[in-house]
Amino acid sequence: MRAIVVYESLWGNTEQVARAIADGLASVAPVDVVSADAAPTQLETYDLVIVGGPTHAFSMSRPSTRETAVQTQHAPRIVERGIREWLDDVTAVFYPITAVTFDTKVDAPRLPGSAAKAARHELRSRGFDVSTASQTFRVHGYEGPLVDGELARAEEWGRSLGALVADAPR
Ligand SMILES: Cc1cc2nc3c(=O)[nH]c(=O)nc-3n(C[C@H](O)[C@H](O)[C@H](O)COP(=O)(O)O)c2cc1C
Repeated sequence: MRAIVVYESLWGNTEQVARAIADGLASVAPVDVVSADAAPTQLETYDLVIVGGPTHAFSMSRPSTRETAVQTQHAPRIVERGIREWLDDVTAVFYPITAVTFDTKVDAPRLPGSAAKAARHELRSRGFDVSTASQTFRVHGYEGPLVDGELARAEEWGRSLGALVADAPR
């Protein structure tokens, strides 16, 4: 059993969540944690693929929303290739590998839309098994930090995902 967590993160909040999920998973499987700009697009060697990014304008980020983040919100990181662009290049799989998505969103106001939902749709269209529910983790404002308890929740979720795949027949 081998897992990969692919993330995108401008201020580092989604990366922290990605690493906490991987910590939770680590007891059952070796886990690669990779930024979308360096992630492989052939995923057949994995039994579990976890994908997470920040929700921008009700969906996955785009080059334009990331530019806005840098220009008007002073985001510290220029992300050239987010999960949207990475997913565009992911090769369809013949065996339905389990894929699960998560996102980060502002805690208040509660807005509609979800990067996780959009990413899940893309993975489904490439043949992945996306039957496991996505998760949203909350941040204060655009830049964070994460709301108290979210990293513990992410680690616990990672543990439960590991158990899910470890028990699954292949
Ligand atoms: C341009 C832009 C648009 C955003 N749109 C939304 C949105 O529609 N809904 C939401 O809940 N948060 C929105 N946010 C807040 C992001 O979700 C937040 O910045 C992100 O979770 C922080 O994660 P990161 O540190 O990994 O980048 C937006 C942020 C930016 C910069």
